[in-house]
Amino acid sequence: MSKHQYTLIILKPDALVKSLTGNILTRLSEARLRIIAAKVVKVSRELAEKHYSHLVDKPFFSDLYEYFSGKTYGKEYERVLAFVYEGEDAINRVRKIAGSTNPLEADPISIRGAYGRINKKNIMENVIHCSDSEQSAEKEIKLWFSPNEIIEEIYPTKIVIKNNFEVREWV
Ligand code: PPS
Repeated sequence: MSKHQYTLIILKPDALVKSLTGNILTRLSEARLRIIAAKVVKVSRELAEKHYSHLVDKPFFSDLYEYFSGKTYGKEYERVLAFVYEGEDAINRVRKIAGSTNPLEADPISIRGAYGRINKKNIMENVIHCSDSEQSAEKEIKLWFSPNEIIEEIYPTKIVIKNNFEVREWV
């Protein structure tokens, strides 16, 4: 039985370098999901460490950060595009279109199979990130987006007072 889900999608700097944004969004639209949040983000080391928290201690983390932040490609590519998609079976539908994490193992007509590569530092430049479970989707969406940046209330929020203003935060 299919389930209503949310998933975080990141178009990584290599997607921008290769002018793949329109192409990838068109392919994702075939999944019949809806975009409920979108923004362009400059990825700080702190954000990368939280996003890839299970990889921070790996010897390749610094090289992974160089790639994920876009520093590998120069100033004008130091950014990613982040989206939240929602819909039935959203996580698996997107993962199928994206293909396996390793571009060399991915279906050649998937996004990663068609456009990904392994760079000289052995980092997978795989063009797109997508959440791999409901649990990681929730962690990632809450990390990348504040409640006010998403057009629907998808997880519980609370109101806190900051500088005399009411602000909505994730519970
Ligand atoms: S694992 O092995 O299950 O803990 O890793 P996973 O959750 O699949 O995430 C690995 C992410 O790191 C990116 N990456 C690499 N991992 C391992 N080795 C190398 N060399 C490497 N290069 C990049 C990989 O693309 C996964 O990120 P996402 O954004 O999910 O593609």
